[in-house]
Amino acid sequence: MKKQIIQTELIEYNSPDELKDKYQRLIEEAKEAAQKAYAPYSKFKVGAAVLLKNGEVIQGNNQENAAYPSGLCAERVAIFYANSNFPNIPITAIAITAVTKSEFVKLPVPPCGSCLQVMLESEKRANQPIQVILYGQEKITLADSIKQFLPVNFNKDMLGG
Ligand code: THU
Repeated sequence: MKKQIIQTELIEYNSPDELKDKYQRLIEEAKEAAQKAYAPYSKFKVGAAVLLKNGEVIQGNNQENAAYPSGLCAERVAIFYANSNFPNIPITAIAITAVTKSEFVKLPVPPCGSCLQVMLESEKRANQPIQVILYGQEKITLADSIKQFLPVNFNKDMLGG
């Protein structure tokens, strides 16, 4: 028997000013995206902004549906758009935030498991880590790879024997 202890490294900031300019701008894009979300059912408006290696920024937000499971999270809307329109350009970073009760969340909101799995695929596909910036009014969390959230994961290496 062997116990494995896995550590995750997340960096916390009190203000966007402490981050690199490009990440400050990406947070602003995620905030803008959140305001445009379609979330009449949960009233939890999530915004994501994806930064590509060529400098392109793609916004996405959650798109809900009266048939609840037909909706999609902000992160996947943004990532699928990025990967479908720029299939050969790696994603280098994603900023995420949410608006609830007319204001931005106080604390960072981590992506759901399905979105993490999709982000992991993009990271593996491009063989390049994706920086994750989670914005809350009182705290900003930065991770240097999706693997910080999914240290034990299912990926293409498991397929094909
Ligand atoms: N949501 C996202 O957009 N991203 C996540 O990572 C978690 C949840 C959305 C889905 C749904 O529209 C609303 O937030 C409430 O769950």
